[in-house]
Amino acid sequence: MEKYVIRGGNPLRGTVDISGAKNAAVAIIPAAIMVRGVCRLENLPQISDTDTLLRVLSYMGASVRTINRSTVELDCTNVKLDSLSEDIWALTRRIRASYYLIGAMLGRFGAACSTMPGGCNFGLRPIDQHIKGLTALGADVRVEGGFIRAAARDGHLHGTKIYLDKVSVGATINIMIAAATAEGVTVIENVAREPHIVDLANFLNSMGADVRGAGTDVIKIRGVKELHGGTYALIPDQIEAGTYMAAVAATGGAVKIANVIPKHLDCISSKLREMNVEIEEGDDYVLVRREGDLRHTNVKTMPYPGFPTDMQPQIGTVLCCASGLSVITEGVWDNRYKYIEELRKMGAQIQVDGRTAFIQGVDRLTGATVRACDLRAGAAVVIAGLAADGVTRVEDIQYIERGYQNIVGKLQALGADIKCVDEPDEPSALRPAWIAG
Ligand code: EPZ
Repeated sequence: MEKYVIRGGNPLRGTVDISGAKNAAVAIIPAAIMVRGVCRLENLPQISDTDTLLRVLSYMGASVRTINRSTVELDCTNVKLDSLSEDIWALTRRIRASYYLIGAMLGRFGAACSTMPGGCNFGLRPIDQHIKGLTALGADVRVEGGFIRAAARDGHLHGTKIYLDKVSVGATINIMIAAATAEGVTVIENVAREPHIVDLANFLNSMGADVRGAGTDVIKIRGVKELHGGTYALIPDQIEAGTYMAAVAATGGAVKIANVIPKHLDCISSKLREMNVEIEEGDDYVLVRREGDLRHTNVKTMPYPGFPTDMQPQIGTVLCCASGLSVITEGVWDNRYKYIEELRKMGAQIQVDGRTAFIQGVDRLTGATVRACDLRAGAAVVIAGLAADGVTRVEDIQYIERGYQNIVGKLQALGADIKCVDEPDEPSALRPAWIAG
């Protein structure tokens, strides 16, 4: 089984280039179904989630042309609903973003079908707000047999006013996509404001849509007849950048995080400064330096522009190395602390009570064999391995490779002692008799 083997203790130094935003890419690729013509997408991250979605569109009849490592030309003119197949369902069950196919197919064809989405398991991940929004636009939406089926009652969607009961990135995105070609005006209130929401709006507008207000809590969409082809470059990944910022904070050193939008990192930079990490901002980079001891602090995750929940495991790991007691309150997901069991194997002192984690800093974490429980939990244990004494083996790395392009290569270039190896599980013969089973 492939795993990362990390020998910790090296301070990170050098420059790391951030790739395109995963959560923008997994919204924009399905949205391309709405476009009759060629969408040239630039700064796409090379990660398994984008690969999965490009394969889905190809199975649906889209032409997918790889121009270079981060540029793809998609032409969905010939996409057809009757090309939906088991090959597609095997892929859509893997990822959360597959539910954006529903909004895109509804907007293009007035009908849609996809499997219930997969994605990281943080407890309940309902889709009631997606259903509320698509129903308000005039679709009948049914969930049965593991599938979501939708059809516009009169063959076409109609603009309307929608108030989301909960700030939801996914529901905001799904409704935006479907409403882009609905008849009339759609106003969505209490929407998510993440950078990838703005990126999707900019993509849709560059293809001829009329979406205003993205980045605020009200989005207004004036439906257009159809979308035309064009070129769009995705924004850099806020969470990938934050992950490398957290890694430097944990190991010490000095790293230039290049190709970022510093404004998107404000909440992360501000929290790291509280922990005695120096952050210097340039036009399209941040310089992160940590020489002295880390200070403890408290973190509450919130929808953007609050501290991102997708940075919670990573900052939790850094706080394990900060002197004193830190408290994390997870404000978005019911159960996003699975990584803590793995950190405890490395000597972390953490207690969890519901959505709150109490972290008592320790002098040093110690290397161990741990697993990536999900995408960001995987990033957390990699950071822990980089900072720990000794060797850490990270298993189930497929979760990490869903959202981090070339993480091993990027970390090696910063001086980390990390490699990806294919080695069997620890043979039971090597397990001391006192380990049961
Ligand atoms: C997106 O998930 C991201 N995934 C997640 O990032 C991220 O954690 C999350 O937004 C919050 O920022 C992608 O973009 C592919 P939500 P999503 O709908 O859309 C509740 C990563 O690490 N809710 O904003 O599924 C929900 O239970 C991944 O990159 C409803 O109640 O999240 C949660 O408590 C992990 N009903 C809250 O809203 C709904 O219909 C936020 O969920 C939808 C959501």
